[in-house]
Amino acid sequence: MFVPQPIGFVSSPYKATAEIPKGLNTKHEAEGVLKVLPEFELGLSDIEGFSHLFVIWEFDRSSDFDLFGTPPFDERPHGVFATRSPRRPNPIGLTVVELLRRENAQLHVRGVDMLDGTPILDIKPYLSSIPVETLRRGWLAEAEARKN
Ligand SMILES: C[S@@+](CC[C@H](N)C(=O)[O-])C[C@H]1O[C@@H](n2cnc3c(N)ncnc32)[C@H](O)[C@@H]1O
Repeated sequence: MFVPQPIGFVSSPYKATAEIPKGLNTKHEAEGVLKVLPEFELGLSDIEGFSHLFVIWEFDRSSDFDLFGTPPFDERPHGVFATRSPRRPNPIGLTVVELLRRENAQLHVRGVDMLDGTPILDIKPYLSSIPVETLRRGWLAEAEARKN
């Protein structure tokens, strides 16, 4: 297996996990900056044309994992791979952000849900060819229906 190295770090308004909005139907609108290290800047060439990006990052302030647990916004337990819990065997996060603008090695984005200083492992253009009507939301849809 490769040993992951950060390609940069997130500048986020969130200094503590309690500040990050959570729960069903939460929309992440916070703006932040993906600060890519100078040695990787060339890799950002042509990224400006994409409206949204996948950001792959490390839950660097999470330790250990739970294979089966109850999310804070549901009463029922679920398998970790059916959730977006930070407590996972490989502590990797995935966030879709909107690219607002690029300033050299800095990507200004909207939609961060990571803590300030979070290591970035990779960035890829967001592309999806899956029609929205074919997506199923599993236990989340059931939890939303129970709350309404
Ligand atoms: C539910 S996870 C979802 C993250 C990502 N969108 C995903 O799906 O992988 C988001 C939560 O992770 C936690 N978090 C954010 N940044 C973190 C970090 N650097 N280390 C550990 N936990 C973090 C916060 O509690 C935040 O509310």
